[in-house]
Amino acid sequence: MRTVYVNGEYVAERDAKISVFDRGFLFGDGVYEVSTVLDGKLVDNAAHLARLDRSLQALSIPSPAGDDEILEIQRQLIVRNALEEGVVYLQVTRGAADRSFDWPEQPAPSLVMFTQAKPVRGNPKAEVGLSVALVPDLRWKRRDIKTVTLLPASWAKMQAAEQGCDDAWMVEADEDGVERVTEGSSNNAFIVTADGVLVTRNLGDEILHGITRRSVLQLAAEIQLRVEERAFTPEEAKAATEAFITSASSFVMPVVQIDGAVIGDGAPGPISRRLRSLYIATAESEAI
Ligand code: PDD
Repeated sequence: MRTVYVNGEYVAERDAKISVFDRGFLFGDGVYEVSTVLDGKLVDNAAHLARLDRSLQALSIPSPAGDDEILEIQRQLIVRNALEEGVVYLQVTRGAADRSFDWPEQPAPSLVMFTQAKPVRGNPKAEVGLSVALVPDLRWKRRDIKTVTLLPASWAKMQAAEQGCDDAWMVEADEDGVERVTEGSSNNAFIVTADGVLVTRNLGDEILHGITRRSVLQLAAEIQLRVEERAFTPEEAKAATEAFITSASSFVMPVVQIDGAVIGDGAPGPISRRLRSLYIATAESEAI
């Protein structure tokens, strides 16, 4: 039985309660963050809290707690749940108000946090890689805001599962009418081209500005990889020599099949493996 945090209190998960009028429940009116825990410490956490502030500001949701206070709650949850490896989930909604499309004038935001134990560094999938299916991107147009409205992403993942794949990469037509990959259902998408260039979509409203993406791009620069931040087509992805995804909960995870096309020799490639081990080494030394 986990201990979770709900609006100022640490309670057993079966006693954790939120109002039926909470706007997160009625309107998906909330934002979230997922920070990874390695050896009981938080990875890239300051960047996750900075993005939380950005999401809250974009939607004019008042911040329910300062960064120091949130960090203290994260650490309490790690200790109280004896979490060694996994994630701390954090969600802020605009809080409870009588149902109305208008935002309440004086919102009382709600803050909920909980832990999930899972293998991140020791994820066995990293050895074999993932298969991904290409599915239409049905999400709204402000994907840079990390909202809890995850039904389109969840649905994309289920469509991929129906095709026997581990995950989905989402595709939509750009302004020029050409279809391009946006990102994974809950991760950023990377490919390596035949001439060794690492390609990932440029930042904009079309994708979440991944914290792991940013760290991995820094590592790529340090080892002098050639990098292009630009959109790529499904055809380019299928012809890639390597592919991988990045997210807080998967770090760098190799992709070995895209829409049935085998990537490289069908095993995690050298650049993906190198960036994964560099990311893990950095996370281990910099986690707080
Ligand atoms: N997902 N793109 C989307 C749509 C995401 O939901 C996520 C994260 C990412 C990667 O961002 P980061 O590197 O900051 O985790 C990209 C989290 C892990 C989740 O929903 O569980």
